[in-house]
Amino acid sequence: MDKILIEGGNRLVGEVTVSGAKNAVLPLMAASLLVDGWTTITNVPNLRDIDTFKVLLSHLGCDIESVGPGTLRIRTVNVPSPEAPYEMVKTMRASVLVLGPLLSRFKKARVSLPGGCAIGARPIDLHLMGLKKMGADVSIDHGYVTVKAEKLKGAKIYMDTTTVTGTENLMLAAVHAEGTTVLENAALEPEVVCLADALNAMGAVIKGAGTETIRIEGVRELKPVEVRVIPDRIEAGTFMVASAMTRGNVLLKDCPLGYLESLSVKLREAGAEITEEAGGVRVIGDWPIRSVDIKTIPYPGFPTDMQAQIMAMMTIASGLSVITETVFENRFMHVGELKRMGADISVDGRCAVVRGVKHLSGAPLMATDLRASASLILAGLVAEGKTEVSRIYHLDRGYERIEEKLKRLGAKIERVKE
Ligand code: UD1
Repeated sequence: MDKILIEGGNRLVGEVTVSGAKNAVLPLMAASLLVDGWTTITNVPNLRDIDTFKVLLSHLGCDIESVGPGTLRIRTVNVPSPEAPYEMVKTMRASVLVLGPLLSRFKKARVSLPGGCAIGARPIDLHLMGLKKMGADVSIDHGYVTVKAEKLKGAKIYMDTTTVTGTENLMLAAVHAEGTTVLENAALEPEVVCLADALNAMGAVIKGAGTETIRIEGVRELKPVEVRVIPDRIEAGTFMVASAMTRGNVLLKDCPLGYLESLSVKLREAGAEITEEAGGVRVIGDWPIRSVDIKTIPYPGFPTDMQAQIMAMMTIASGLSVITETVFENRFMHVGELKRMGADISVDGRCAVVRGVKHLSGAPLMATDLRASASLILAGLVAEGKTEVSRIYHLDRGYERIEEKLKRLGAKIERVKE
């Protein structure tokens, strides 16, 4: 297993290019199940979650080709056994995204129930409620959910919690349904819009993606297309925080600043300078960092996927910051590790109170989930002395060569075998 070693103290200076968004690629890969012919996806990052999804699609019977760096071609002729097994779903919950398209095109799907994960219970009841409303027969046995429908029918579906993959799954199911499906309280995330745009290019009729009400008119057939993945707003956000907290001066190329308003507002409040220029977005940090309060909420609110990283920054701010996590019930696992570096944080339920300290000190740390891993790397960049982050397989799920990108910006960081 690999680990990451960091010697803290260097300012980050230079340019970094933001990769394609993991959370946009996965639903696009699932969408390829709907089409007879090759779907081409470009700007695909090299990540473990994407490899896991490739294995799942191959298992289902899809042909997958990597044609050059960042380009994937996927073709689905038939799916003899539309089943997503436990071994794959347990390593990546987003595997559940095959449910909608398999049901829609092959009339049946059997997917292992994801169960809880490190950051919360994360049920899929809303995905299943929506499919039932469209006329699917849903049954659960031996840890698997089986959905069947000869022909899905359009329906009005209200989701009482905003769910990103739930909205995507139902959109994927509804494109071939008979009549109109209306998704109410739909997720507004840019990745949902990216999927809707791709499906529309394939011939689907989807209106309102990016708003709370999405209308999908069912169509008989979709045609294969080439789609480009939008840039990863969470990777971009992580580098923005990295620059801000190291007193850096970093130009982010291909940075989707328009998707990062809630983060930019907070970084500016904390004292960072963020400007758009011809080549990208420049983030300049300065000390002392001012403490800011954060509350995670669904897009366009402050992303839960940036909560751990901003907390790392607040550990060295001047003053007190209250960080409230409203999306997932157990997303403070990084707190224990940050405290081992000298951070002053107390947690009460969904609130963390961070009192800024003068400095963090490097320590051996254990990554617990994807974004928590990123926060430990950020903390290591500003800590005095050496930090060692183990279990970085979490990091490789969602960050493409993060240590190489940080090294080019001047960080003293390397990946070593444990
Ligand atoms: C997606 C993202 C993940 C991000 C999260 C929230 C992907 C592949 N992953 O995850 O990176 O952290 O959005 O922005 O895009 N819920 C229910 N019932 C359901 C579905 C969800 O109660 O049927 C709840 C969840 O437990 C959670 C909340 O809704 O509390 C939001 O979860 P959701 O938006 O579904 O997260 P994911 O789509 O799994």
